Amino acid sequence: MPVVAVEGRPRTWAAHTPSSTYVLSAEEDGRVVQWYWGPRLPAAAVAEVAGDRVSGRFASGFRPDDDLVELLPVDGGRRWGVPSLQAVYEGGVRSVELTFDSAEFTAGRLDLVLLDPEYGLRVVLHLRVHDDSDVIERWVTATATTGPVRLLRLDSGSWPVPERADPVYLGVAGDWALETQPHRGPLPVGETTFTSRTGTTSHTANPWIMIGDAGEEHGRVYGVALAWSGSWRLTAQRRAEGEVAITAGFGHDGLAWDLAPGESLETPPALGLVTDGGYGAAGRAWHDYARRHVLPHPREVRPVLYNSWEATWFDVTEDGQLGLARRAAELGVELFVVDDGWFGGRVDDRRGLGDWWPNPERFPDGMRRLFDEVRKLGMRAGLWVEPEMVNPDSDLYRAHPDWVLHWPGRRRDTARNQLVLNYARPEVREWALGWLDRLAGDYRLDYFKWDMNRSFTQAGPDDLLWIGHTRGVYAIMDELRARHRGLRIESCSGGGGRIDFGMLRRTDVVWTSDNTDALERQRIQQGYSHLYPAGAMSCWVTDSPNPITGRRVPLRYRFHVAMAGALGVGGNLGEWTAGELAEAAAHIAAYKEIRPVVQQGRLYRLGGRPGGERSAVQYVHEDRVVVLAYNPFTDRRQAPWRLRLAGLEPEARYRDGDGRVWHGTTLMEHGLAVPSWWSSGDDYRSDLVVLTREP
Ligand code: DGJ
Repeated sequence: MPVVAVEGRPRTWAAHTPSSTYVLSAEEDGRVVQWYWGPRLPAAAVAEVAGDRVSGRFASGFRPDDDLVELLPVDGGRRWGVPSLQAVYEGGVRSVELTFDSAEFTAGRLDLVLLDPEYGLRVVLHLRVHDDSDVIERWVTATATTGPVRLLRLDSGSWPVPERADPVYLGVAGDWALETQPHRGPLPVGETTFTSRTGTTSHTANPWIMIGDAGEEHGRVYGVALAWSGSWRLTAQRRAEGEVAITAGFGHDGLAWDLAPGESLETPPALGLVTDGGYGAAGRAWHDYARRHVLPHPREVRPVLYNSWEATWFDVTEDGQLGLARRAAELGVELFVVDDGWFGGRVDDRRGLGDWWPNPERFPDGMRRLFDEVRKLGMRAGLWVEPEMVNPDSDLYRAHPDWVLHWPGRRRDTARNQLVLNYARPEVREWALGWLDRLAGDYRLDYFKWDMNRSFTQAGPDDLLWIGHTRGVYAIMDELRARHRGLRIESCSGGGGRIDFGMLRRTDVVWTSDNTDALERQRIQQGYSHLYPAGAMSCWVTDSPNPITGRRVPLRYRFHVAMAGALGVGGNLGEWTAGELAEAAAHIAAYKEIRPVVQQGRLYRLGGRPGGERSAVQYVHEDRVVVLAYNPFTDRRQAPWRLRLAGLEPEARYRDGDGRVWHGTTLMEHGLAVPSWWSSGDDYRSDLVVLTREP
C-alpha cells in the first residue's frame, strides 16, 4: 500500500517505498507540511509522527509556522525563506494565499489540490512512489483559472531534510572538460545554490544535492535531484537553528512566465531519496531507479562504439571514414559513428550548421555507400547531429533568420560561431523532425549522437521558451524514437553539458566529457557515478598524448578507465601501431566478457582519490564481480596496499582468474593483493580482476 490516508488524522497521508516512509498533511491554514521522511515506519508509528509537536515545534525540529517544513513554501504571508512558488496577480498583487481544496490518491500517487480563489490560481502538488524504488517523485501543476497570473518561480517542490547536528552536502560542479567534480563540505548556514542559466543542464553544476553526514558505505543520506535538461535552480537552506530544506525547480532567477486564464504550467519531477549506507548505497539506489524508471532500454547491453571526431576533426571524407571503419571492425567495435563535418558546407566550425544533407563535395553520391560498408563490416551505423543550432553562414539561417533565439533591437551573440534555434516554435520542431526522420530512414541509422554546443544568449521572444525549448527537444527525441524503434540516442552537449534524469529518459547513453585524459576522467566519472549508472556513461579510449591535456598515459590504463562505463574508442586508429591495435583488440574482447557486470551491476567505489592515488571501482552482478583498480603514481609509502572489496556474500566463495578461491569475508576484510596496488614500478598501473561466486 504505497500511499495511504493516516487514520485518526484528517488530511494526512503516508507514502511508503520499500525502505522509506514520507508523511505529510494539509493543515487548516492551507499549508502542506512534512511530518516525517526517513526509514520505513509501521502504520502505528506513522500515526505517532503525524501531528507530533514538541513544545510548539514539530517533532522533526521545525517551528509550526516555519516555511522550511512546507512542501511548497509560497511567496506570501509569514514566510521569509526561499519561495518555491512566487506569483504576481492582476494589478501587481503579490502574496499567494493557498487553501486546501481536495485530495485524490490511488496506489502510488497522491494529488493535492490547493486554491487561491481570490485571484484564480490552482496548484496541484503531485507525489508518486514505486514499489521497487525508494525514490519519491514530486512535481507541481499551476493553473490560472480566472485571471492572468505571472509566475516568477514554480519549483517542483521543497524537501525538508530532518535535522542533523552537522549537515554535510555533496554535489558536483565543474566546467567544460572538467565536468562533475565532486564537492563536499559542511552545509553553511544560509542559502547554498547550484544553478544553470545556460538553457541546458550545464557543465558548471548538475541538478542534484545530497545532505547527510556519511561515509562511502555508512550513514544516512538525503538526496534531491531534478529531472530537467534546461536551466534550473536548486537551493539548500540551512537556518541557524538547524532546519534544512532543499527547493528545486526549472528556470532561473529573473524569468517571468505568464499564464492566461485557462493555461497551466507543469514542472518536471524533483526526486527525493533517503538511504542508509552512505554515498555508496545512495548511488546504487539512484542507479536502480534509473534502470527501472528512467532509461528507455535499461537491460540492453551497450555496444562498443567507435567515434571519428578526434581522428579526423572536421576533415571527414568517405575514404577516411572507411579506413577508420575497417580498423575499428578489426578491433571488435560494434557501432561506428561519423562525427561532425559530414554535412552542408561544414569544413570547419564557421559554416554549415543547419544544412543537414551530406556535403556534396565530400559525399557526392550521399552517404549510403559508407553506411552500407559499415554494416558489411559487421557494425551498426551512427551519425552526429546538432539539431538545435545554426551557423549564420548557412542556407537555413539565410532562409529563416527569425528562427533563432533573439530579442528585437538586441545583438545576436554567437558562440562557437553558432546561434540557437528556438525549439519552442512549432515550425522549427517540424523542420527538425523532418530531416532527422529522413536521415534515420534513408540511411537506416541505428544511432544519433545529438550534440548541443552552446548556451543561450538573448533568449527571446518570451521567457516561456526557456521551458518550451527543452520540451521541444524532448518531443522530437520522443517522436524519433517512436518512429524508429531501433534508434538509440547519445546525449552530448560540448561533452557532459546535458546529463540529467530528464535527458536519460529519452537517450541511451551520455557523452560524459570531451576530456578523455584517463587520469582526469577518473574524477569526472566518480562525480557522474553518484547519481547516474555506468551503463549510460560513454567513455572513449583516445590517443596519447591526450589532445586536451597533452598527458601521456599507457593504453592499458586508458582502456581500464574507459571500461568502467560504456566502452568506446575515439583515437586515430590510422596511426596506432600493430602492437597497439592488437592490445586494443584484446582489451575490447575482455570488456565484452565483463560488460554485463559493469553496465548492469551494483557499483562500489573502493576508496582513494580517483586519478590522484590508488583507487578502484567494483561491480557486482549475479554471480560475477569485476574490479578495476588503478595506481596512477608510484608511491612506496602510501597505504593501503590491499584492496578491500565490498558488497560480497561473506560466507560465499569467489574464484579469481588464477583459479584461487577466496571467502567473501576474506576479500572484504583482509583484501585482495591486486598487482598494481601491491608492487611498485612504473606510473599508471592498473588491473582488471574478475571473480566468480562458486555455486
Ligand atoms: C562537441 C562534442 O563533445 C565532441 O565529441 C564533438 O562531437 C564535437 N562537439 C563536434 O563538433
